[in-house]
Amino acid sequence: MGKARILILGGTTEARRLAEALAGRADLDIVLSLAGRTSDPAPQAVPVRSGGFGGGEGLARYLTDEAFDLLVDATHPFAARISANAADAVSRCGVAAFALRRPAWQPVPGDRWHAVRNVPEAIAALGPSPRRVFLAIGRQEAHYANAAPFHHYWVRSVDPVEPALTVPDVAYIHAKGPFRVEDELEMLRQSAIEVIVAKNSGGSATYAKIEAARQLGIEVIMIERAQAAGLAVVETVEAALHRIDHLASSLMKRGV
Ligand SMILES: NC(=O)c1ccc[n+]([C@@H]2O[C@H](COP(=O)([O-])OP(=O)(O)OC[C@H]3O[C@@H](n4cnc5c(N)ncnc54)[C@H](OP(=O)(O)O)[C@@H]3O)[C@@H](O)[C@H]2O)c1
Repeated sequence: MGKARILILGGTTEARRLAEALAGRADLDIVLSLAGRTSDPAPQAVPVRSGGFGGGEGLARYLTDEAFDLLVDATHPFAARISANAADAVSRCGVAAFALRRPAWQPVPGDRWHAVRNVPEAIAALGPSPRRVFLAIGRQEAHYANAAPFHHYWVRSVDPVEPALTVPDVAYIHAKGPFRVEDELEMLRQSAIEVIVAKNSGGSATYAKIEAARQLGIEVIMIERAQAAGLAVVETVEAALHRIDHLASSLMKRGV
């Protein structure tokens, strides 16, 4: 009997954990797909393919040509294009699919959040007077800060921001999560940060800055998620494993 073939769209901790949990399974054949942006990607427990597919159409063709039985969109909640492509591909080729997407953080008492819809709105929300800003949104959209060059920026990302910002006062911090609350408190205090710009990514790996901001009474300009694309969503790796077990057993019954 053949194995069920699963394509995981990754680039997240959850995708890596899901791949790890499935790696040893004799009844499954797993491929993890990465965008290929990170210069030093974390090691993965399953075979990896890298780079774009060429939109929803390209992804549908890849799924069909490679005879995948299931697509799991486990990309980052802010990676909107690939998630829209996944939904489009599924509507084209009819492969079974679901999304693994961690829930958004919710504000708790003590949080000082200002919700915005995107990075340009977040930069505008910093206001007209110079402030000391921790920009924790990754490197791809950091350039929007160039529109407000009078602030002092601390920009954190895994890989360098290229091209560098054109603002006169900027410090770059290269670091990969997970981050600890103690370290975030120290960074915020040492640099006398007045406001943090963050994406509402959810999950625990990058939550420490939100907790540290609460403890210090620092404002967070929180970029909320856009409406998600059409696939059914599970929120945890465990729920994803449960769904996959269900699919694997139904494929066995069909004699795939
Ligand atoms: N956006 C974030 O804040 C963020 C944070 C952490 C990690 N990530 C991860 O970084 C990757 C890129 O994020 P993004 O925001 O640039 O994505 P995006 O804007 O949604 O996608 C841009 C294009 O990159 C390709 N792509 C994206 N993810 C892919 C994957 N897993 N496998 C193959 N191709 C992929 C697709 O190209 P084609 O159309 O040619 O197929 C897609 O159209 C994602 O895998 C995501 O999980 C993103």
